[in-house]
Amino acid sequence: MPVPTILWENEELTIIDQTKLPLVLDSITLKTVEDVWDAIQKLRVRGAPAIGVAAALGVIVGIRNFQFDDRTALVEKVKQVADYLATSRPTAVNLFWALDRMKAVCDRYSSATAAELMAKLKREAVTILEEDKLICRAIGRSGSDLVPDDSTILTHCNAGGLATVDYGTALGVIYAAHEAGKNITVYADETRPLLQGSRLTAWELKESGIPVTLICDNTAAKVMHENKIDLVIVGADRIAANGDTANKIGTYMVAVLAKAHGIPFYVAAPSSTFDFSLSSGERIPIEERDPIEVVHGMGKQTAPDGINVYSPAFDVTPANLITAFITEKGNIFPPFTENIRSTIGTK
Ligand code: MRU
Repeated sequence: MPVPTILWENEELTIIDQTKLPLVLDSITLKTVEDVWDAIQKLRVRGAPAIGVAAALGVIVGIRNFQFDDRTALVEKVKQVADYLATSRPTAVNLFWALDRMKAVCDRYSSATAAELMAKLKREAVTILEEDKLICRAIGRSGSDLVPDDSTILTHCNAGGLATVDYGTALGVIYAAHEAGKNITVYADETRPLLQGSRLTAWELKESGIPVTLICDNTAAKVMHENKIDLVIVGADRIAANGDTANKIGTYMVAVLAKAHGIPFYVAAPSSTFDFSLSSGERIPIEERDPIEVVHGMGKQTAPDGINVYSPAFDVTPANLITAFITEKGNIFPPFTENIRSTIGTK
């Protein structure tokens, strides 16, 4: 990445405004917790791990200007700010995981003064950011073993440096394979309606010097049929205990196609994306977004006035379509329920 997706410097939270890519690489400083909420909701910062990191730092943004005489008031404020940020988007579990980590600091340091607790909270948020960089590189190393030399990878949406602090999960695997000297080419689904594939993945890979070919989402079957794809790697927003995986709308379709063509389908994600409270993907909350993104997404109206629109932002790929999970703790193969539990543990 030319600049980090999320930067915490001099107590300021700065993010790349991803809504402006690929035309303008512009960063904005989020000064209030409302700015952070809005940036997450509007996808200025997006991608499950990046949302989690932004939210953790968003808690600091939300509490830093208050003078706390006693720790009770501070703890109450942390809870209030975290609960507010939790309403920004529903599907990526990393958001709730990061906010829970921030709230847990208050419980862990139950005898700390308000000033001491403030310092611990700042340290936790920065740790979440720093860990993301290391975790993505570990995912990259682990997944690189699964990528043969001279292979072509199809990916959907953006699970790259833009979806994390700076390296990516699915694209992290691609970067690691490339850095290991493997000859890798990528097909990027454009990813309607918000075009994360064409706006972000194609931009990011091009910046990195990795050959990338952009395709419309409905071209995926054809490139697979033409034997152009050796493997698929995608990211994830939430993975249930049995391996059912929520990711960007259209991922399920790609997984079905990969199965039909005998192509391995890998999901790359950090442990923070696994949700052991859900036994299957049935109960993963799926965000529905404003129809305007579908009917007016390309700078002009593309459907008749008043048309009915259904726009879920994510779908759930059943575990039986997934070849393996690539995590910072290693690659996980079936049977998923027991192997996910033994590899990821209880977080
Ligand atoms: O709506 P978005 O752009 O936040 O959706 C992002 C995705 O679906 C990514 O594939 C997922 O969050 C994994 S990012 C490492």
